[in-house]
Amino acid sequence: DDFEGIGVWRYADALPLPTGVSIQEGNTPLYTVPEIEAGVDVADVRVKHEGMNPTGAFKDRGMTVGVKVAERLGVDRLACASTGNTSAALACYGARADTEVLVLLPAGKVAAGKIAQAALHGARILEVDGNFDACLDVVAELADRGEVYLLNSINPFRLEGQKTIGLEILEQSREATGEWPDRIVLPVGNAGNTAALYKCFRELVAAGAMDEAEMPALTGVQAEGAAPMVEAVREGNDEVRRWDDVETRATAIRIGNPVNAPKALPGIRATGGTAVAVSDDEITDAQRSLARDGVGVEPASAASVAGLRKLSERGEIGADEQVVCLTTGHLLKDPDAAAAAGGDTTPVPADADGVLDAL
Ligand code: F0G
Repeated sequence: DDFEGIGVWRYADALPLPTGVSIQEGNTPLYTVPEIEAGVDVADVRVKHEGMNPTGAFKDRGMTVGVKVAERLGVDRLACASTGNTSAALACYGARADTEVLVLLPAGKVAAGKIAQAALHGARILEVDGNFDACLDVVAELADRGEVYLLNSINPFRLEGQKTIGLEILEQSREATGEWPDRIVLPVGNAGNTAALYKCFRELVAAGAMDEAEMPALTGVQAEGAAPMVEAVREGNDEVRRWDDVETRATAIRIGNPVNAPKALPGIRATGGTAVAVSDDEITDAQRSLARDGVGVEPASAASVAGLRKLSERGEIGADEQVVCLTTGHLLKDPDAAAAAGGDTTPVPADADGVLDAL
């Protein structure tokens, strides 16, 4: 029942436990994206679609480890703050582990699919009068008081599981093109994935499996209205200034205080990466382009492709580079955003001639 050796757990040797609370997470596809590739001046573009995980986002990779650790510790209440996807994954894995789950969500700022998941998997959902960062402050205090076990990405066991995104990208890229990618472009919220990928690469270097110069350049993308990491990278700061007012259509990354910045910033620098901000319209354009290449993602995920386009336009990415964009969540997570970005529907009568007349 532990799905030993499958997906994330194929990499058990790189993880702190031999098995997890699992529903077969990981082993997500690496897609070609011809339309997107044709529009940028780089050698190769692939998309690693983390929306193909059991709950539709990369969070499952972290939860399979984190919830197992919680089970071993014998805690009786799991909790997280969330822009939506973490809460959906925790609700699911908590259900699997038969443990109570509490989720704190910023009221009115979480996409419908994510709330539906948390509700159906049986989490207690609390809508907080404040943004994600405020929710995280509250739940961290509850954890400090011993009331809950915290499963946000500040929990290092989450990041252990998320390292496997890096291992899969390296394996799949080499299989597809014969080489490891030069760059990984990914959306940044709390910077958990950025930190996890950097840890993955450092461990490979320490094990003698990768040269330091081969570490793919970690390239973070944020929405213009929530871009404290981009600001820190641009200004060369070691610390990230907290943004109190954040806004973006990509609600998953509507975050002003990236808690993993101390682990992620050194990764961006050490790998020769960068960070870039994109507008909501650029995000929606990228979401449409991905959809035309057959890849359905939520807005935050499309930020990676929007960032690639912007950096390529600015000449900040080499024409010889092989690039992997990480798409973090599935289209159905945010059906309202997808419907708004898509075409209109046409009402027709229930007869063939009427349908043909309407075409
Ligand atoms: N993409 C999606 C779809 C997300 O849900 C998140 C984070 C990110 C990107 C950012 O990832 O934190 O590793 O930089 N979502 C969290 C949540 C905050 O609560 O679901 P990161």
